[in-house]
Amino acid sequence: MPIPEKHFFVCTNRRPPGVEVPSCGAQDGFEILAALREERDRRGLAASVFITATGCLGPCPAKGGTVVVYPDGSWYTGLSTADVPEIGEQHMAGGKPVSRLLDKEFSRVE
Ligand code: FES
Repeated sequence: MPIPEKHFFVCTNRRPPGVEVPSCGAQDGFEILAALREERDRRGLAASVFITATGCLGPCPAKGGTVVVYPDGSWYTGLSTADVPEIGEQHMAGGKPVSRLLDKEFSRVE
């Protein structure tokens, strides 16, 4: 099995009915997961960029999805599917996180 250069963990957590805390699964988390995989595959990066669905990662933004990328420690919160092409171009292919989309509180990079 190859060792990935980047590993994207994408929150798809859903909460039970009646729980009022926001969740990524209710805010396009599954669509963001699918779009990231499509973007990676379109660029031929499946051997170097792994993408895994996860449960809650912690930040639980009021709007949008949450993604953390290792080994660089980049956190994206409040994502939409419209952000995915830029992440594909700059982060997956270019190796640099998209600064304007980073969660500055959680990320180890700028
Ligand atoms: S539900 Fe996605 S980070 Fe908590």
